[in-house]
Amino acid sequence: MSNSYRVAVVGATGQVGTLMLKLLRERSFPASEIVPFASERSVGRELAGGLIVQGLDEESVQGFDIALFSAGGAISGEWAPRFADAGAIVIDNSSRWRMHEDVPLVVSEVNPDALAAHHGIVANPNCSTMQLAVALKPIHDEAGIERIVISTYQAVSGTGKRAIDELLDQSRALLAGSGMGAERVSPGSAEREIEPPDAYAHQIAFNALPHAGAFAAGEDHTDEERKLINETRKILGDPDIRISATCVRVPVVNGHSEAVNVQTRRELSPERARELLAAAPGVIVLDDPAHGVYPLAIDATGRDEVFVGRIRRDPGHERALDMWIVADNLRKGAATNAVQLAELLHERGLMGRRGAPQAA
Ligand SMILES: NC(=O)c1ccc[n+]([C@@H]2O[C@H](COP(=O)([O-])OP(=O)(O)OC[C@H]3O[C@@H](n4cnc5c(N)ncnc54)[C@H](OP(=O)(O)O)[C@@H]3O)[C@@H](O)[C@H]2O)c1
Repeated sequence: MSNSYRVAVVGATGQVGTLMLKLLRERSFPASEIVPFASERSVGRELAGGLIVQGLDEESVQGFDIALFSAGGAISGEWAPRFADAGAIVIDNSSRWRMHEDVPLVVSEVNPDALAAHHGIVANPNCSTMQLAVALKPIHDEAGIERIVISTYQAVSGTGKRAIDELLDQSRALLAGSGMGAERVSPGSAEREIEPPDAYAHQIAFNALPHAGAFAAGEDHTDEERKLINETRKILGDPDIRISATCVRVPVVNGHSEAVNVQTRRELSPERARELLAAAPGVIVLDDPAHGVYPLAIDATGRDEVFVGRIRRDPGHERALDMWIVADNLRKGAATNAVQLAELLHERGLMGRRGAPQAA
C-alpha cells in the first residue's frame, strides 16, 4: 500500500471543490500530487497553491489513486467510472451513484465499515441526510428508530453559488427600494420589484419555499425529500424506518437546520438522548434554551461538527423526542465527509482498484 497518493479533485473551482482542496491541505492528507479538474471554461486557471485546472479527457484521468468529485450528477455519471476503470477510487458528492447497490453510501462516523465493500466508487450522502444520520446514529443504536418526521430549513448555498448571489441581489434590491415597509417584502408588490427568479421557482429573499429540490412529473415529493428518506434508510441499514420529510428552502446563506421528531422502538428519555449525543463522534450538544443556547446556522458555518439542541419529549407521544439539528452543509454536508472518507480509505488500507460498478 502506498503512503502517498495522486489525488484528482473534479469540480475543483466550485463551492464544495474549493473546500475539499482546502481541507486536503489543512488535514495534511498524504497526497504526492493534487490535480484540480473543472469545465473547459476554467482550464488553465491557477488556483490557491499554484494548482492549474485541467480538463477531463481519456488521457488526463489516468494514474490517480483517488478522485473526489463535486461537479454534478451528469459529470459523475460519465467520468466517475472512467477514473475507477483507470485505477482510482472515486468519492462522489453528487446523487448519481448513491442508491446503486454496488456503491457504499458512507458517513464517516456512522457506517465506516461499509467502505470495505467498494467497487471503485463511494458515494457521499446528500447534505441534509448527512447531518441527520450523524445525530440519529447513537439514538438508533440505543433505542431503535421506528419513525422520523423531519422538516428542513435549508440554506441557499446548497443550490450553488448562483443561488447565494440571487438571495443577496434580491435582498439588496428590495431593501434599496423606496419605502422599506412590510408591503415591500410581502408577495405581489415585492416580487415585481426584482429580477425574475432564476435559482428557485419564487423569490427567496424574505420568504420560505416548501420546494427544496425538484418535483418530477407526477411526484408529490421533491427529489430532495426522496433522497432524505432513501439515503437515511441505506446509511442506517434499516429499510423499515418510516420517514416523513418536508424540505424547505429559507433565506439563509449557509448552514442547514432541521426540526426532527424521532419515534423510537424502546423508550428513551431526553436526558439519556442528550448523554448519548454528547458522547457521539462528530456531535456537539448545545441545549440550554432558557439561556438562548441552541444550534444556529450562523454558528455552525465553518465548523465540521453536527450540532444538536432543543432535545425534548414530544408531548404527543411517549416514545418520541423532538430535536433541532444544524450543520454546515458545505463542510460536514459535503467536503469534510468526502475528505474524511479518503482518510478512512487510507487508514484502513482500502485504496486500490476493485473495478467500477455497472451503470444502473
Ligand atoms: N452545495 C452543497 O451544499 C452540496 C452538498 C452536497 C453535495 N453537493 C453536490 O456537489 C456538487 C457541486 O456542488 P457545488 O455547490 O460545489 O457546485 P458549484 O459551486 O456550482 O460547482 C460546480 C463545479 O463543477 C464544475 N463543472 C461544471 N460543469 C463541468 C464539466 N462539464 N466538466 C467538469 N467540471 C464541471 C464547475 O467548474 P467551472 O467552475 O469550470 O464551471 C465547478 O468546479 C453537486 O453535485 C452538488 O449536488 C453540494
